[in-house]
Amino acid sequence: MLKLINHPLITHKLALIRRKETGTRDFRQNLSEIAGLMAYEITRDIPLREITVETPVGSCETAELSREIILVPVLRAGLGMVDGITSMITTAKVGHIGLIRDHETLEPTEYFAKFPSDLSEAIVMILDPMLATGGSASAAIGAIRKRGAKTIRLVCIVGAPEGVARVEKEHPDVDIYLAALDSHLNEKGYIVPGLGDAGDRLFGTL
Ligand code: PRP
Ligand code: URA
Repeated sequence: MLKLINHPLITHKLALIRRKETGTRDFRQNLSEIAGLMAYEITRDIPLREITVETPVGSCETAELSREIILVPVLRAGLGMVDGITSMITTAKVGHIGLIRDHETLEPTEYFAKFPSDLSEAIVMILDPMLATGGSASAAIGAIRKRGAKTIRLVCIVGAPEGVARVEKEHPDVDIYLAALDSHLNEKGYIVPGLGDAGDRLFGTL
């Protein structure tokens, strides 16, 4: 299911990173902050377990997160979302998957993968700012599922209808979170209007 996250601060920061004049420092900072703001919505339904803590004044019946959360940024651009989310979910573990999209065929190739040992009980959140054709996201979901993950969420910032449709078709059980659903892909597979090449803008490799 597609969940569009709508918040004035997210819209404001997204306008900033879409702007072509925005440099690497502001792009990096605002991308990370958007991911941090999205953390509220992507964790909204995570179950809690009841616990008792001792405050300086007395006993308190309260609750804590009951599921482990594992973040999996898709290299490179997904790295820009990790700090924003771990600043909200400080106990999250982080795995990594490296995928590179061929500029001609638009097909992704996996070049790196390293995950925490047990993914089966965790809520695994794949992070990638861009959901374009959906090839990279679909490959990342497949790679994580193959390693035992059962609950997977895809957290992107800007998506194209083509990418959403592909992930929904190939992985109907994966919830997709987006801050914006844009118009379409251009002939080079870039999201229109999008924000350009997220990895290049994040790391200054334009
Ligand atoms: C970009 C982006 C996604 C992918 C999206 O990565 O960060 O991973 O393209 O496109 P898709 O939905 O059509 O697969 P890219 O392959 O350019 O690698 P990079 O992050 O290292 O620049
Ligand atoms: N990858 C990007 O970084 N940007 C796009 O618009 C499409 C794929």
